[in-house]
Amino acid sequence: MAGGIFVTGTDTGIGKTLITASLAWKFSKSIRKICVMKPFATGNSMYSKKFNSKDVAILTKAIKFEEKQENLNPYFYPLPCSPFMASSLLNLQPPSIGFAIKKFKFLQKKYDYLLVEGIGGLMVPINSRYTLLDFIKLTKLGVIIVATPKLGTFNHILLSVKNCRSNGIPIKGIVVNKMPSHPTLIEAKIPTFIQEFTKLPILGIIPTINNLKINESTFSKIAKLIDITPSN
Ligand SMILES: Nc1ncnc2c1ncn2[C@@H]1O[C@H](COP(=O)(O)OP(=O)(O)OP(=O)(O)O)[C@@H](O)[C@H]1O
Ligand SMILES: [Mg+2]
Repeated sequence: MAGGIFVTGTDTGIGKTLITASLAWKFSKSIRKICVMKPFATGNSMYSKKFNSKDVAILTKAIKFEEKQENLNPYFYPLPCSPFMASSLLNLQPPSIGFAIKKFKFLQKKYDYLLVEGIGGLMVPINSRYTLLDFIKLTKLGVIIVATPKLGTFNHILLSVKNCRSNGIPIKGIVVNKMPSHPTLIEAKIPTFIQEFTKLPILGIIPTINNLKINESTFSKIAKLIDITPSN
């Protein structure tokens, strides 16, 4: 069975896509059959002719492979909110966790390694009964939690960690993204305090990159700062 990582975060806009793409780029150097997945996505509108979701466009830029969008991203709603709300407001069928897992298992069988990006945080409602957490549980993957050093992050990280732990989801570690170039004492110290409190490894501290471009050089720069291999 294929290995993999599920990349979740404390919030939306925290850097999950960038971190997932950078890890995919890094791991693709040693794993030939590697794939990315964004099971649930929403947004203002369809991103391009080829990709409904901008995140999927970025993730697929990181590695060379051919896969149908419907397998990588079975659900997209053109409204920037949770899949549950978006499907309801657009009068569309909400996502089925079972169908999304079917797609996940299809990819898992076909590839040697999967990098899966969540949506928002762990408790984003997917439909009227289930949250993203329920999907993650079924994948049996370990998670990376992406956070930023902004005020309030400690609370969001602990909520995420507690939810994973009480649901038997293994946590590989935490990535602190968007560390300012001149952090305050609090911002600079937050990773140490998180590590001390949670006993989880801080896998990387990624600086805020000015004029960030979505390309190989950015993926490589970020990947070098994250201490994780496909096997740990
Ligand atoms: N280290 C960084 N330095 C500068 N900009 C960053 C950094 N990380 C992410 N960004 C930018 O922040 C924005 C949000 O990042 P990203 O799309 O990866 O977040 P996300 O958690 O995947 O969001 P979503 O919930 O929409 O999926 C993007 O414009 C991205 O380019
Ligand atoms: Mg994203």
